Amino acid sequence: MGEPVSRTDLRHVFEFYRAMGLDEVPLGAGVEVKKEKTKTQTNTQKKQEKRKMSAGEKAAALEKLYHEALEGCTGCKLSAGRTNIVFGEGNPSARIMFIGEAPGAEEDKQGRPFVGRAGQLLTNLIIKLGMKREDVFIANIVKCRPEGNRDPEEDEVSACLPFLKKQIGIIAPEAIIALGRVSAQTLLCTEVQISKLRGRFANFEGIPFMPTYHPSYLLRNPKDKILTWQDALQVLELLGLKAP
Ligand code: URA
Repeated sequence: MGEPVSRTDLRHVFEFYRAMGLDEVPLGAGVEVKKEKTKTQTNTQKKQEKRKMSAGEKAAALEKLYHEALEGCTGCKLSAGRTNIVFGEGNPSARIMFIGEAPGAEEDKQGRPFVGRAGQLLTNLIIKLGMKREDVFIANIVKCRPEGNRDPEEDEVSACLPFLKKQIGIIAPEAIIALGRVSAQTLLCTEVQISKLRGRFANFEGIPFMPTYHPSYLLRNPKDKILTWQDALQVLELLGLKAP
C-alpha cells in the first residue's frame, strides 16, 4: 500500500481514470483511501476519549444504561424465569474485563456475577493475579439466568448482546478475558472450539481479547487450571503488569 491520499488527490485519481475512459477505479489500484484511515482514527480517538472519562463518569454512564435500558427488561424469554438481572459489577475504569456466559442459580438470587462455586474459582484467579474483584469488571453474555443452567439460545444472546457491547464501550478496558466457549465464540463470531481459541490473543473491536476456559470447566478439569493461569499471565504481561 502506498501513502494515504487526500480527497483532492483522490479526485485527481478519479479524473485520471475517467480520462482513461474508465467509470470506476479498478480494485487493487493501490489507492489507500484516506477516509477509511480517518474512520479508524476516529474509532481509536473515541476509545481514547472513553478511557479518559473519569471513573465517576463511567459509573454514571453504566448506571444510566442499567436504569434506562435494562431495568425491567422483557427483551427475551429469560426474563420470565429470572429473580434478578445480573448487570455485572466491578471497577467502571477497569483495565481488564472478564466476560462469562450467563448467571447461574446463585447469581440469579444475588443479582451479582460469578458468586457461586465457579465464581469462587474466578475470584481466586483474580487474587492470584495480584488484583481484587473490585479492580476488574465482571459481566456475562446474557444478564438473566437460563433455566437449568442450559446454554443461552441465539435469540437470547442477540437480545442481550447490545447491552454488553455498550458496557464494553463505556468501560473501554485495555483487555478482555473471555471465560469459556459461549463467551469466546459469541464475541468472536466463530464456531472454533475453545481449546483452539484459548491462549492466543484475538481482537474484539480493537480490544485485545484472550479466550480461556470457563471456571465451571476448570472445576471439572482442574488439571487445565494451569492453562487458564498461563492465558491470564499473557494478559498481565500485555498490560505491563506482573503477578505477585
Ligand atoms: N457462570 C457464568 O458464566 N457467569 C456467572 O456469572 C456465573 C457462572
